[in-house]
Amino acid sequence: MKLLGISAHYHDSAAALVIDGVPVCAVQEERLSRLKNDAGFPIGAIEWCLDHANLEPSDLDAVVFYERSMLKFERILTCTLRAFPRSWRSFPHAMKNTLGEKVWVRGIIASHLDVPRDRILFTDHHASHAAAAFLTAPTEHAAVMTADGVGEWATLTVGRGERRLDGSTDITLSREIRFPHSLGMLYSTFTAYLGFKVNEDEYKVMGLAAYGRPTMMEQLQKVVRRLPDGAFTLAPEFFEFHTTASRSYSSKFVELFGPPRHPYEPIDLESADGRRFADCAASVQRMLEDILVDIATRLRRETGARDLCLAGGVALNGVANARILCEAGFERLFVPPAPGDAGCAVGAALYADRVYFRNRDRRVPDHPFWGPAVDGRDLARAAREDGQDVGELDQPRLVERIADDLAAGRIVGWMDGASEFGPRALGHRSLLAAPHALDTRDRLNRDIKRREEFRPFAPVVPIEQADRFFDLPPGGARLARYMSGVFPVRHEWRSRLGAVTHVDGTARVQVLEREMAPRFHALLEAYGRRTGIPVLLNTSFNVAGEPIVTRELEGYLTFRRCGIDTLVAGSTVVTKPGGKPALSLKESGAWSSNTAAGSTAV
Ligand SMILES: [Fe+2]
Repeated sequence: MKLLGISAHYHDSAAALVIDGVPVCAVQEERLSRLKNDAGFPIGAIEWCLDHANLEPSDLDAVVFYERSMLKFERILTCTLRAFPRSWRSFPHAMKNTLGEKVWVRGIIASHLDVPRDRILFTDHHASHAAAAFLTAPTEHAAVMTADGVGEWATLTVGRGERRLDGSTDITLSREIRFPHSLGMLYSTFTAYLGFKVNEDEYKVMGLAAYGRPTMMEQLQKVVRRLPDGAFTLAPEFFEFHTTASRSYSSKFVELFGPPRHPYEPIDLESADGRRFADCAASVQRMLEDILVDIATRLRRETGARDLCLAGGVALNGVANARILCEAGFERLFVPPAPGDAGCAVGAALYADRVYFRNRDRRVPDHPFWGPAVDGRDLARAAREDGQDVGELDQPRLVERIADDLAAGRIVGWMDGASEFGPRALGHRSLLAAPHALDTRDRLNRDIKRREEFRPFAPVVPIEQADRFFDLPPGGARLARYMSGVFPVRHEWRSRLGAVTHVDGTARVQVLEREMAPRFHALLEAYGRRTGIPVLLNTSFNVAGEPIVTRELEGYLTFRRCGIDTLVAGSTVVTKPGGKPALSLKESGAWSSNTAAGSTAV
């Protein structure tokens, strides 16, 4: 059975193909259109998926859309009418926006793909999230929790998933919290208030939280009311997201927390306002964590399950995930590589396969590499034509050569095989660098990523060595497989892992098993043989404001216009002419321990 899953129209559109119960490919539209967070109908992603599997649209048994667009329309209409006349300004915008394309999804799919309308199916938004988490996780029986901004009406659901011995599968979402009471919207409201971009910069709030203290819990308790059963409500007078598209927080919110931050105003933690913003971030982060831990703890008691599968945009919060793992009583916590709406393309197709068509359960490969592959020969051709220094090396020599470069302080663009599905670079489209040098971190921030200095980079470590450097709780290595948890760096290593250690001594570490990315694993070992520390800084291969690179040529163009020293795809290595190592290990203080732990400058 051939099923195409589609997620589209809000943020980060994607398509995925499931054939005979197993995903064969998946890609976000932004990775092909090169428009960051492209929310359009993912025609490029669909065409690539069909080409990849050598299929025509007529070969598809069903096309599955990740949510019920009419129900979503009903929610928008209801909320706008309830808020009338306050909402009169936003009413025409909301209707135009919704009626433009979002409601008529069946017609859009039918006309783009020329498939019969009765082959177009719809799943519930949170069922797609739940399926993306449970049906891709190596577990037979698990509690399931999803949390995001909003789907149709639900913003948070809990339930369970079960794979039975007879091959049948069940996902039951037994309870939900409904719009406008939403953890995702609460966090996004603070994201906007703190001057960051909603639906894009939520992780900056998490990063900033480490610089503050949760001094505003009392104020937050007026905004978020906890209920005896663990649920919560948001006090509507502090919000406007449910009545207008122009501002998410109200004047009462500003009275309570003070004036908002202007997006172009730098955050100066020496100033009273800067500290207030950091404290706001710390407070909303604490509130989010407390609620999630509480709901997860009750779910654990209710289901008796040892495993929890977690998805929805809120599951991108690695600090909250780590607390759930440590405190809610589960042994393992599974967060898929694309827990947000893009991942719903895979989730919707798998849900249709197992639950709607009742097909037998199949084990889904446990990796994030579902996108287009790179070809080193194409990179070599382009780089030679451009007059660059190109080498072709067999794998062992390539790994040793790149480990030398990294040990010499060079920044490496590393492309290998199929691209990652989801927001994290996990070793196939990564920028790599030595993890100790604050100078390297600053060079990456300044010349390539052009981002705020308070944002730390992530480390990657082989699973065999993870406990030596990071304080991982039981189940931590699994959560860190797709960089979904934030864990303490062991005290004695913080100075020598300065470029990847956050100000609070933690890191969003990727714990790598050899089978998932063998060449990447070999590189970590080779780097470890040179430096005694098999840990690398691993950040996504893109410059500020652009999606992660997909093809070799995008990698090459990125390499040419910013401070990347060496580029790798397949067996091809391109080096900038005259490119000098940025720092030697001795200069950068790799072997000393006199750098302040996690001394991230702000
Ligand atoms: Fe969602």
